[in-house]
Amino acid sequence: GDVRLWGGRFADGPAEALAKLSASVHFDWRLAPYDIAGSRAHARALHKAGLLTDAELERMLAGLDRLAADVADGSFTGTVADEDVHTALERGLLERLGPELGGKLRAGRSRNDQVATLFRMYLRDHARIIGGLLADLNEALVSLAEAHPDVAMPGRTHLQHAQPVLFAHHVLAHVQAFSRDAERLRQWDERTAVSPYGSGALAGSSLGLDPRAVAADLGFERGSAANSIDGTASRDFVAEFAFITAMIGVDLSRLAEEVIIWNTKEFSFVTLHDAFSTGSSIMPQKKNPDIAELARGKSGRLIGNLTGLLATLKALPLAYNRDLQEDKEPVFDSCDELEVLLPAFTGMMATLTVNCERMEELAPAGFSLATDVAEWLVKRGVPFREAHEIAGECVKVCEAAGIELDQLTDEQFAKISPHLTGEVRSVLSVAGALASRDGRGGTAPSAVAVQLAEVREDLAVQ
Ligand code: ARG
Repeated sequence: GDVRLWGGRFADGPAEALAKLSASVHFDWRLAPYDIAGSRAHARALHKAGLLTDAELERMLAGLDRLAADVADGSFTGTVADEDVHTALERGLLERLGPELGGKLRAGRSRNDQVATLFRMYLRDHARIIGGLLADLNEALVSLAEAHPDVAMPGRTHLQHAQPVLFAHHVLAHVQAFSRDAERLRQWDERTAVSPYGSGALAGSSLGLDPRAVAADLGFERGSAANSIDGTASRDFVAEFAFITAMIGVDLSRLAEEVIIWNTKEFSFVTLHDAFSTGSSIMPQKKNPDIAELARGKSGRLIGNLTGLLATLKALPLAYNRDLQEDKEPVFDSCDELEVLLPAFTGMMATLTVNCERMEELAPAGFSLATDVAEWLVKRGVPFREAHEIAGECVKVCEAAGIELDQLTDEQFAKISPHLTGEVRSVLSVAGALASRDGRGGTAPSAVAVQLAEVREDLAVQ
């Protein structure tokens, strides 16, 4: 028989080329469990409105249970001829209950409000999964910071040595970003907890159904859509989800790039665990940071999913348009990619070893304590403008002589400026430079300890 949900006014079936173009069942099948949950809730709404008897509701729910079990064990699947997951499951229900009862469930709903609802349910579940994976990553990063509480490293701007920072401080900067991403997911979830079910094709239903009861049934804490046109036509919840996943990709790629650089011979800041790095088919000595590179690469794909989706949504008139069928694959892909990438990335970060000596050795290099000279002068009343000049002069002299700042003699200091004395050497140590930046958010061990405690507390409540 014809499985199409719209055959009535058509004399001919669809051309094969159309059927092939139209089919989405190969990618929207993953919505099947949500579609069945929606059908259960809808059956109860029909019953409440007096459109299904007690006995009919009972048989309907039993039929949906059987269908759900057959979907779960793979004995029932959709086919290209089904067009989409909603059509396939309607066929499954008709096969199990017969046309008399099976044909009653479609009353008062449309694939338009169905798909808008199921898509929200699917993405809300995956927001939780991805949020959990982000928490795992942050746990690994916080442990990495805790394991190296007082190791200094060269802090950089423009990738040049800038000022020494604590390695733990640097790692926690990434944790802060990932925490905001996790918060974005939670806030998105709160905004998305509104059910479009009951909106029908676009105008609502004349059958006296209660969309709020359906919403409560399906776990939408904020009730049902206030506007049926908006409920069926809007996909900003998808675009926002795509942005958050793209942002996670971008944040991962920043850390990935650093791991790749830190892992080079020239830096030698970290060594990756064998289990989380790969070899070369031709160069036996190679140990490659493939996980980090894949993270960097996949961030491009996640960005593409967002921009492609926004382009699809641009200038769509209200209400539902078939263009909207293009909204699913990009974000399904973003979920799939992150759910594979994050555990591998976390494993890499949890198992890498840090070459503390190498980091410490390079922390003061590149005259990274020049700012400390300037600030030492400021504390003695020299205007910063002049202090900056004097410190710059110190660097110039050192560079010409091939020495470090703390190797300048008292005479050389005095010659550069009468404000400078040998006492300035007290701040020309990495430990001194770090300890002096003890204000909130600074890199002093005491300030980083405060940050670490806050982050730990945050992770515990998430
Ligand atoms: N498969 C469609 C989608 O994903 C839902 C079906 C709506 N189709 C329609 N002709 N109104 O958007």
